[in-house]
Amino acid sequence: MLCRYKFAWDDERPFLFLKLLMSLMLTHSAVKRRISSEKRLKLEAGGGFRMEKGLLYRGKSKSVYAEDDDYTCILEYRDSTTAGNGAKKAELDGKGALNAEISSVLYQYLEQNGIETHFIKKLDDTRILAKKVDIINVEVIVRNIAAGSFSKKYGVPEGRPLKNTVVEFSLKSDQLGDPMMNESQVTALGIASQEELEVLKKTALRINTLLASLFDECGMVLVDFKLEFGIYDGRFILADEISPDSCRFWDKATGSKLDKDRFRQDLGDVIGAYREVLRRLRNAQQL
Ligand SMILES: Nc1ncnc2c1ncn2[C@@H]1O[C@H](COP(=O)(O)OP(=O)(O)OP(=O)(O)O)[C@@H](O)[C@H]1O
Ligand SMILES: [Mg+2]
Repeated sequence: MLCRYKFAWDDERPFLFLKLLMSLMLTHSAVKRRISSEKRLKLEAGGGFRMEKGLLYRGKSKSVYAEDDDYTCILEYRDSTTAGNGAKKAELDGKGALNAEISSVLYQYLEQNGIETHFIKKLDDTRILAKKVDIINVEVIVRNIAAGSFSKKYGVPEGRPLKNTVVEFSLKSDQLGDPMMNESQVTALGIASQEELEVLKKTALRINTLLASLFDECGMVLVDFKLEFGIYDGRFILADEISPDSCRFWDKATGSKLDKDRFRQDLGDVIGAYREVLRRLRNAQQL
């Protein structure tokens, strides 16, 4: 009576129980593995929660996705906004779509004027199809008027016109805070040769002339901007973005800021300013 169950060799019930137990243990460890790979992707992707198919890189404001071929990629402009190398963060509703459109308009304008860019076509509101490049590890900064880090570093009042256009290089490294580099440092580290730097400088100055003329027509002063170049099929081409996130634009009449400084300096109505930049570009004769 104490134990009604008697084991018999032809009885399969204990084995069924063991099989059930083992399959439960296997499922548990598979789920654990999946969660840890999601965690890894989340960490690599900088905090996203979804497993994103084809995600190559999640930057501070854009995500890069692989395409089926080796020559193209998809750039998604997100609403994420950062300043001070990520110290200040916000989600600004509609910013991704505005920057995708502004950048696309500007890249098409540059292409029409003989500058090769990574832009292929717009896919939807926030995504563009681009030539996949090997990004060169220096950012190229062009300045027409003193502002931002230039004013701070050299003690020059913001807004002072410069006697000549300044071209600066800085190492693309968030960890090191994108330190400025002179040409011999760039060549010494093998990031680019002197001949390649000459090409980058010449192209950056040509882009400055083209953009300054377009923005002037739109009633804006092009104060400064940052460019990224990449190697595609053995050539340097312009990549990344040109938008109010990467440039400074001031209204010609009032001096009002129409770029990411509105966010950096808590000036308010960031999206209104970006929308105004796009509205003016849409009315430009040169486009
Ligand atoms: N055509 C392209 N092919 C490959 N990578 C690109 C292309 N255009 C831009 N990129 C890279 O995609 C990333 C875009 O993301 P985002 O601008 O948000 O990065 P980030 O946080 O500013 O970081 P980073 O310092 O790497 O630019 C950048 O690293 C940029 O260099
Ligand atoms: Mg960037």
